[in-house]
Amino acid sequence: MEKQLNTQINADNGAPIMEPQRQFYYMDLAKKLVEEQERAYGRKLTAHVETFGCQMNARDSEKLRGILDTIGYVQVDTEEADFVIYNTCTVRENANNKVYGRLGTLGNYKKKNPGMMIALCGCMMQEAHVVDRLKKDYRFVNLIFGTHNIFKFAELVVRALTEKQMVVDIWEDTTEIVEDLPVERKYSFKSGVNIMFGCNNFCSYCIVPYVRGRERSREPKDIIREIERLVADGVVEVMLLGQNVNSYGKNLEQPMTFAELLREVEKIEGLERIRFMTSHPKDLSDELIEVMAQSKKICKHMHLPLQSGSSRILKKMNRHYDKEQYLALVEKLRTAIPDIAITTDIIVGFPGETKEDFLETLDVVRKVRYDSAFTFIYSKRSGTPAAEMEDQVPEAEVKENFDLLLKEVQRIAAEKAKELEGAVLPVLVEQVNEHDSTLVTGRLSNNSVVHFLPKGDTSLIGKIVDVKLTECKGFYYLGEMTDELVRK
Ligand code: 5AD
Ligand code: SF4
Repeated sequence: MEKQLNTQINADNGAPIMEPQRQFYYMDLAKKLVEEQERAYGRKLTAHVETFGCQMNARDSEKLRGILDTIGYVQVDTEEADFVIYNTCTVRENANNKVYGRLGTLGNYKKKNPGMMIALCGCMMQEAHVVDRLKKDYRFVNLIFGTHNIFKFAELVVRALTEKQMVVDIWEDTTEIVEDLPVERKYSFKSGVNIMFGCNNFCSYCIVPYVRGRERSREPKDIIREIERLVADGVVEVMLLGQNVNSYGKNLEQPMTFAELLREVEKIEGLERIRFMTSHPKDLSDELIEVMAQSKKICKHMHLPLQSGSSRILKKMNRHYDKEQYLALVEKLRTAIPDIAITTDIIVGFPGETKEDFLETLDVVRKVRYDSAFTFIYSKRSGTPAAEMEDQVPEAEVKENFDLLLKEVQRIAAEKAKELEGAVLPVLVEQVNEHDSTLVTGRLSNNSVVHFLPKGDTSLIGKIVDVKLTECKGFYYLGEMTDELVRK
């Protein structure tokens, strides 16, 4: 059925100028439009948010869901819904291709349900060539917006519901941070919390600084207030999110270091676990290591992207550290926090990477012995300095090195995991096991997954309990919990 909306609603009439009030005004308007459509259809309207990419996008999607919920859409797992939004990623080329592929399927759904709304947002939309292609070849898309104006989602939904043509609103950059909009969390007991947006590092392969803009830190009081509210709502674990959390606070009116922020977060009563992501090795301070070593709440886990083990390549990547400095930093971390888990990101096939360079990477992997590592094949991103570099590495060579690296990373990770077999460690229970409902699944402080038999019921979810790791299965553990071991 074609939608028949009351386009008489003048969306701009009386809208407050101030945020977030303006968005609440548009949420009310959108709600009326959705109710009108519900009456026409004789049923509730459904919405689906699909996330591509990183934890930042996952958190943004929770914000999108919060608004869709407020407007009156019922969230569903299928893309055959009345409102489908893709929150896109563009860090590697294959992430882009996936979106184009799946948009074709969405177009077919829309033929069956012409009132369907299709929206696209996120990093990929910040690229002009993407928006041009969508405007040309994907006319059925109703709404396109970017990373800087996601807080305007409610307002944009009203426009998309009332205007006949494709609504496109992309901002080049922003200094604005809008607080206090609704959020629909995926988990009741843990949550991501943005502490900063954007990135100023311009690693030469990376498109993030171009699509996420300059670094902006949230005010500490806003972060603390958000976490206090989350804790009051049952959250026991937070993941502090930023592209480079170690440079948090530099651009605040009253500058503050990330370590100082962590000290404040630690004081929040009821909060049990603090994680953060991502750390840039060049900005990891002694103060941070000290705070982590002393903390009772900060998880003993550091994600420390290496990218390459070759000092020559690191220079070309604009990473501002070399192999020796990276290894020294790991040494310092391990001395201060002996049981810390260290994980990383590595790129294989950066322009000009020789076999020798690759062997340097392998050497670092063997020296550090990562608990796990994300390995990526270099992807050329237009607009970045590396895309202009001449000696792009032949595909076959990259593939060979990539396979070698992956095998080594997995072998070491399995050996590391084995070391904890037999230990009794606290586990945050996250969910009933997806394959075996007699088990529950949780995570250790070092982020490893444990499946174990609950001596109780699903009321354990969201609680931290001590579990004996009876068997290491490579990347996860099987465990046992006894009643005496219940902590909380
Ligand atoms: N090609 C491959 N991997 C990349 N990453 C960022 N840009 C690229 C690229 N152009 C990886 C880095 C980063 C992770 C999030 O994605 O390893 O740490
Ligand atoms: Fe990209 Fe480097 Fe910024 Fe990470 S620190 S988002 S890799 S530019």
